[in-house]
Amino acid sequence: MFTKKNILSMRDFSRSEIDLVLEGAEKLEKYALGKKSDLLQGKIMANLFFEPSTRTRLSFESAMKRLGGEVLNLGSQEASSISKGETLSDTVRVISNYCDVLVLRHPKEGAARMAAQFSSVPVINAGDGAGHHPTQTLLDLYTIKRESFLDGVSIALVGDLKYGRTVHSLAYALAMYDAKMFLVSPEQLKMPDDIKSDLKDLGAEVIESTSLNDVVKDLDVLYVTRIQRERFPDPEEYGKVADSYCVSLDLLNDVRKNLIIMHPLPRVNEIDVEVDKTPHAKYFKQAFYAVPVRMALLTLLLGD
Ligand code: NCD
Repeated sequence: MFTKKNILSMRDFSRSEIDLVLEGAEKLEKYALGKKSDLLQGKIMANLFFEPSTRTRLSFESAMKRLGGEVLNLGSQEASSISKGETLSDTVRVISNYCDVLVLRHPKEGAARMAAQFSSVPVINAGDGAGHHPTQTLLDLYTIKRESFLDGVSIALVGDLKYGRTVHSLAYALAMYDAKMFLVSPEQLKMPDDIKSDLKDLGAEVIESTSLNDVVKDLDVLYVTRIQRERFPDPEEYGKVADSYCVSLDLLNDVRKNLIIMHPLPRVNEIDVEVDKTPHAKYFKQAFYAVPVRMALLTLLLGD
């Protein structure tokens, strides 16, 4: 049974709830590919994005529209009452009366949880600063399930594990699937201690490393992330770690035949474009899977 009202963090999910979303996505894939549907006819989703977004906003919008629903967009902050100084809580209180579900991306950690207290409709966290990004995790899990396997998967999370919200959420979920997790980052960008300690409590097998070369041969999934430049208090510090890892053809010489490479995107220069042509590259497929997974989530939250 899916009883969630809000989608705020993977910490709130049980494995059976995740599996419901993944099973739903499989059934809805045909609609993501263009088959007509009126499953969400009469429903309205509002997009409130206070940070840049391409895939998350547009795949939510595509999911809603392909299922016959409608979408409201807040638009730029300059064009809304945010520019007059309206608080997030007031904005949410008002907009939740115009829609059936509210999708929020905000630079502050905890913003979605706070918004949920003021909203009369379900709130979906589409990224709260360096906090969490649960719907990205659901589509990441779906990609792993479709293109590799989930239970006992050997996976490396690579890049910015300090500020990267996608890997924060993904690590919690992977702990539920008995994954072997390699956390690969520069010293300065290690996974936060509180998350590591939670992973330990959940019984996850976690191995930290600064070297991708050392672990790449043992992987089923290589999950690469962008260094989150916008979250660095000091641009000089960003410069020191900017090009820490680049996945090139050379790195892939001795990897497992069925290794898949994922990236939530956008990429800057973490994956050489030459890699796109290899059968390992799944990041564009991953971006497509965003649509059936967000369809599944919306139907579970809004369907009758
Ligand atoms: C990610 C994000 O916004 O956290 N992008 C996404 O939603 N697909 C990753 C990133 O920006 O690096």
